[in-house]
Amino acid sequence: MNISVFGMGIIGLRCADNWQQAGAIVTRWNRTPKDLPHFIADAATAAQASPVLSFYLKDSLALRTVFEQIRPTLQSHHFLMNHSTIDLPTTEWLAEQCAAIGCAFVDAPFTGSKIAAGEGKLMYYLAGSDNDVARAEEILAPTASAMIRMGATGNATVIKLATNLIAACQVEALSEAYAISRAHGISADAFANAITQHGTASALAKMKLPTMLAGDFDTHFSLDNMRKDSVYALELAKQLGLTLPSISTVSQRMTELCQQGHAEEDYTALASPYLS
Ligand SMILES: NC(=O)c1ccc[n+]([C@@H]2O[C@H](COP(=O)([O-])OP(=O)(O)OC[C@H]3O[C@@H](n4cnc5c(N)ncnc54)[C@H](OP(=O)(O)O)[C@@H]3O)[C@@H](O)[C@H]2O)c1
Repeated sequence: MNISVFGMGIIGLRCADNWQQAGAIVTRWNRTPKDLPHFIADAATAAQASPVLSFYLKDSLALRTVFEQIRPTLQSHHFLMNHSTIDLPTTEWLAEQCAAIGCAFVDAPFTGSKIAAGEGKLMYYLAGSDNDVARAEEILAPTASAMIRMGATGNATVIKLATNLIAACQVEALSEAYAISRAHGISADAFANAITQHGTASALAKMKLPTMLAGDFDTHFSLDNMRKDSVYALELAKQLGLTLPSISTVSQRMTELCQQGHAEEDYTALASPYLS
């Protein structure tokens, strides 16, 4: 298989390596040039190099920008999969643009972070035609431990934004619960022990608590990326006249923390105001 991977950030870099280890010929592209094997600096040339194009870019702007760069080289044999978390209008726009060209497009965001990506254990939500989704499942196998079919294009984008809303609010709730516990003399260890055995404990809480309570915000998923996902979720809500008070508040909090210099830290930096 020949595949071109666009976006050599935390996740794309690791997925490209997984495909290469599985025997694929992998072309790598990144906006900021990187010293990587089979790296091509020009996006259009990178798109020409492979029929399968896989995108792990930051946001909607990145997708639209890169798509315009590769558009002149796209042909009906191309198979595009977007794994970046983007807004619904951009997913719909990408699907329309690909349909006009006659190439396939799969809406394929994922969950799982730096460690899961390194181990080839991401979990993808896949949306598109049955044939295209079946082909995506085969291609994505070296990077994935599970895949869930979501139906029509756009559904995977919506569920990805909905699930990130839960993660952001949960980390904020854990931070606030720790704030009052700590202020009343409960240690980080005692708090973590109590929470991880409580009914509300989640895989996320168990994974994130030890580092976040220690003030270790080594980036697995950046605060700025979680912030932009909250903005996309709020746009989805606004479209249908829904009011979402929790994620509105957490989104504002993330914006403030990004402005205070935490943007490129892990999103568990939501706990940072409570640790000093
Ligand atoms: N990390 C996670 O745990 C995780 C989990 C689920 C979903 N996601 C989503 O997956 C995507 C990738 O995540 P990540 O953690 O790998 O992100 P990341 O480390 O922040 O990397 C972002 C990538 O996008 C590129 N980029 C940013 N703006 C661009 C633009 N305007 N034009 C072209 N390229 C641009 C960056 O290039 P430069 O190097 O030039 O800046 C970089 O390659 C994001 O949408 C994220 O929300 C991440």
